[in-house]
This record gives sequence, C-alpha cells and structure tokens, in this order.
Amino acid sequence: MKILPADIAFNAPGARHQGRARLPETGQREGVRGIDDDAALFEAIARNLETTGFSVNAGALPIALCQALWRHRRGMDDDEFELAGVGRARNHQVLEAIRRDQICWISGASPAGRQWLEWTEALKRYLNRRLFLGLFSFESHFAHYRPGAFYRRHYDAFHGEANRVLSLVVYLNEGWRADDGGELLIYGDETDRTGQCVVPDWGTIVAFLSEDFPHEVRPTRRDRYSIAGWYRLNSSTAERVDPPR
Ligand code: OGA
Ligand code: MN
Repeated sequence: MKILPADIAFNAPGARHQGRARLPETGQREGVRGIDDDAALFEAIARNLETTGFSVNAGALPIALCQALWRHRRGMDDDEFELAGVGRARNHQVLEAIRRDQICWISGASPAGRQWLEWTEALKRYLNRRLFLGLFSFESHFAHYRPGAFYRRHYDAFHGEANRVLSLVVYLNEGWRADDGGELLIYGDETDRTGQCVVPDWGTIVAFLSEDFPHEVRPTRRDRYSIAGWYRLNSSTAERVDPPR
C-alpha cells in the first residue's frame, strides 16, 4: 500500500492569508499579490506532484482571486446550479446515492470566472514546463454542497482513458470548524481506507493526479462551496474533437 507522507504533502498554511483579516467583507488591502507568490506556490505544487502525486496548500489561493470568486458565487441564483451527475456525455446520469452536490460550470463570462481561468492557465503553463505533463484544456465548476450533501468515494478519471490528468479543488468557506463535516478524504490507493483529511477552509488549494487517488467528500453539516476543476490531455482524433470545448 502506498502511504501518503503527510509532512511532505501538506504545505504550511499560506502566508498570503496569515496575519491578515480573512473575512471577505472586511475590504482588506489587496496584499502583495505578485508573480513571486505564484511562482513559489506553483513550485511547491510541482514538487509535491513529483514526489507524492498530490498537494495540499492551506490558505494559498491569492486573496484577490479568492474574494472575487466568493463574491461572484454569493451573487449567483440557486437556479444557476444544477444537480451534479456522474459520467460524461451520453453516459451522464444524476445518481443521488453517489453525489448530492449542485454545480455551475465556469465559462469565463464573468470577471471573476475570467480571473480564475487566467490563474489556472498560469498554473498549467508552469506545470507543463516543469513536469512535462502535456496538460491541454481545463474545465471547472462551482460546487455547492447543502447540509447533508456528500460525494462518495470515486476517481476523477479512469486508468487508460486519456481524459482527466490533474484535479484541482479550491475552497471558498470562511472559518470551517472541526464539527462542520464536509472534509475531503484523499486515499493513497484502492486499498487505503484511512486517507488524508483536508478541511475545506478558505483559500485552501488541493491538486492531485486524477487517475491515482480515490477520494470522497464526507457529508457536510453546513453549506460548503468549492470549485473543482480538471486539466485534460488533448485526445482529439480526426473523427472526434476531445475535449469538446
Ligand atoms: C469532485 C470532488 C472534492 C471537493 O468534484 O470530483 O471530488 O472537496 N470534489 O469538493
Ligand atoms: Mn472528485
């Protein structure tokens, strides 16, 4: 069994959010959002992916981006979200025994969505240069887990299907408490029943190789907001454009 070394994979809480007011409503100063910050973060993620295949970075999302996404999400209507399903295209089904979150795909039509897509594009460029991953396209959605919602143990991709290569999740929840539930559990492999626990707290970034890590979202006791995204390879052929967008 592959044991996940927690000390390597869990990076220290991001300096970005430390010692600063974290409440989205406080109108805090923009902070020192700079290329250097992203470079250090991207390098930490690359190193983790290289050694363990996954990376957890507490409070690491740039503050301005985190707040923009939080405000945007807060301004969305419930009816912009749809019940999430399982499977692609014609195999798509809503299976409430497996997952109960509601989702809204991010198109980049809003300024916050665009900012997010620019940031994930910069991460993609870095990882491609550094690890030769060949990441091509990116798809992502807001997810809302209402109290009681969960996502049972699953893989984001299946071995041998060149689809999702790298999963990326960020959290937009202020002050998550130990008894709020909703933890992400990442398992080292098929046989691992213990897993590594990630608290879905404000600004935390998780990345992992989609084919290698089964994971689940424990039932949440409060509204839980996240963005989940996937980098994919370009597996188009002359007959079929894949990814479709
Ligand atoms: C997913 C997923 C994890 C999370 O959407 O596929 O595993 O913590 N999300 O929200
Ligand atoms: Mn998943």
